[in-house]
Amino acid sequence: MTHAKPLIIDTDPGVDDAVAIMLALASPEVELRAVTTVFGNVPLPRTTENAGRLLALCDRSDVPVGAGAARPLVHPQRERAEAWHGGDGLGGRAEALPAPIVEPDPRGAVGLMASVLRAAGEPVTIAPIGPLTNVALLLAVHPELAPRIDRIVMMGGALGAGNTSGVAEFNVHCDPEAAHRVLTQTDVPVTMVPLDLTLRCPASPEWLDELAAGGPRCAELAQVVVRYRAAYRTRYGIDAVALHDAVAVLEATVPGTLATKAMPMQVACDLGPARGATVAVPGADGAPVHVALDADPDPVLAEILARLLRLG
Ligand code: RIB
Ligand code: CA
Repeated sequence: MTHAKPLIIDTDPGVDDAVAIMLALASPEVELRAVTTVFGNVPLPRTTENAGRLLALCDRSDVPVGAGAARPLVHPQRERAEAWHGGDGLGGRAEALPAPIVEPDPRGAVGLMASVLRAAGEPVTIAPIGPLTNVALLLAVHPELAPRIDRIVMMGGALGAGNTSGVAEFNVHCDPEAAHRVLTQTDVPVTMVPLDLTLRCPASPEWLDELAAGGPRCAELAQVVVRYRAAYRTRYGIDAVALHDAVAVLEATVPGTLATKAMPMQVACDLGPARGATVAVPGADGAPVHVALDADPDPVLAEILARLLRLG
């Protein structure tokens, strides 16, 4: 049995967040110590409730949920993502999932992350798969805990075209200032899993059919994905879905799954049309970010499915 490394997922569930959370729960290489929630795809009360429902679905209500930021650090959130994730954030299936069994942790997202970091016997991986507000706040409020973070593996950003504007990816677009704070700090290594890669790893209809036939938990997750799949057909004209967050969490779980290139990154934080763009700035100050730019999609998707099927 391999040693399970401690993991925190910071999330805005969210359909692909749901896949990512269940992937972590099905992976023996990591021990999910906390789920912290943030505004994003849908408002914070919903993302927090959805996290509790997903943990209840997997009989893992032992994992604490801490609610975090309800809005960005500086400027109001411009876009939400109900068109993709449904008004409830889980493709209209939130009420079909078990109700959360435990209340959100009274320490809140930043307090819970700090407690997990202090209690862990080794540095903890943090996987932000929503806006980076909570992680930026953690680094600002508890700089003394940076050595207790092994690395940050974030889903977000785009070197090429964005999905929320021509140049901005949703998680970064939600809170560019928070993303800039995380990407330009030099205390904790950051791996960035951008849209450029996640869009190249779509789950096929066959993949979704196998998930649906994988047992009651997998069947429920497949139901959560139905609306997201319809949105891809409508918006992109393709019958496949990008499970952005699951690709990032697979990298957090199995380091080295994705091929990365080190480059200093900055975020456009002005209020103009490029707001939220993530830009590689060769020679800029700050530690280089490990940007995931390549992977073989087939083994990545196969690995995600094989793990999810363990949940039954
Ligand atoms: O751009 C994709 C990201 O935005 C994913 O995290 C998805 O859940 C949405 O939050
Ligand atoms: Ca997300």
